[in-house]
Amino acid sequence: MSSGHYLGLIHRYGHRMDISRSVEPVSLCEGNTPLIPAPRLAGAFGGGFELFLKYEGLNPTGSFKDRGMTTAITQAVADGAKAVICASTGNTAASAAAYAARAGLTCAVLVPDGKIALGKLAGAIAYGAHVIAIEGSFDDGLRMVREVADRSTIALVNSVNPARLQGQKTAAWEISEALGDAPDWLCLPVGNAGNISAYWLGFNEAFEAGDITKRPQVLGAQAAGAAPIVTGKRVDHPETAATAIRIGNPARWQQALDALKDSCGNIDSVTDEQIFDAYRLVARTEGVFCEPSSAAGLAGLKKAIENGVVKPEGKRFVAILTGHGLKDPDSAVLNAPAPLRIAADTDALLKALNV
Ligand code: F0G
Repeated sequence: MSSGHYLGLIHRYGHRMDISRSVEPVSLCEGNTPLIPAPRLAGAFGGGFELFLKYEGLNPTGSFKDRGMTTAITQAVADGAKAVICASTGNTAASAAAYAARAGLTCAVLVPDGKIALGKLAGAIAYGAHVIAIEGSFDDGLRMVREVADRSTIALVNSVNPARLQGQKTAAWEISEALGDAPDWLCLPVGNAGNISAYWLGFNEAFEAGDITKRPQVLGAQAAGAAPIVTGKRVDHPETAATAIRIGNPARWQQALDALKDSCGNIDSVTDEQIFDAYRLVARTEGVFCEPSSAAGLAGLKKAIENGVVKPEGKRFVAILTGHGLKDPDSAVLNAPAPLRIAADTDALLKALNV
């Protein structure tokens, strides 16, 4: 008798994944994240349409990366790897570290020195990874770890590894199952372009299987200081406060372009100010706290509605909130006024509350 106990993505969807099934899945019961209706946020964007938030920050290490890491680490174990490596703006590092710990593998992560949010660094350290800070960008790190993987037996677990996409594509299926069909539009931030590629793969497979009647139009967003796909030009020194997507030369650039073209979608850049406006708005209207990079997708949606690229009336939108707000506490606290300080005295409190 099945207990109905949710045991993670390979347990649930493994029969539809192109990965080895020769070993026990390495899982933290990732996936199965909520799809939260967001009517107040939709209203703030002008209203007249349905908006849902896929809250990927509720994965075990706080980001969507866990979907791809269960498959990448399981495949690495099946391949006999003893160690794994990745370059990361932070979330991949924390996720790789956790799944490697669970599998008993050694893990090394390369991060751009000083450009990684505190909660991600804390995770990678806590899970016991060898954390190496490089004097360079994510793109430099990715080049280095690709070369290391070529010259050694260390397995690369960045999203250039196809096993990563096999896990990440499942979010498209969860959304389709929850809504009974694909949404009209899918909005998401784009960095190294693994996730946009994975969603497109997932929706295509669901469509071919007859699970959905249509595929969504994809609306990507990049930070203005790190927008190579938008401008069509590699960015040698990417810069944005949304450090997760501070990437100038995405590995899956061409696949992102294919997804955008095939879906009749669009990609645009958003300024850090627009990102932080959306970041505050989603938390204050819906009680959903995401990290700044995640809010880039929402900022992109707002911009696309305002400039007429998207006609939202009567349509159904899903925005992917890729990481939890607590990953980057500095962004929340340092950009806001300090809390009011008062004496431990009720009269002082009444005065502060203006009652
Ligand atoms: N949102 C968050 C929170 C991310 O951490 C990332 C990527 C993205 C969006 C963009 O996804 O790269 O698949 O286009 N983070 C990677 C990392 C690069 O190292 O954690 P993408």
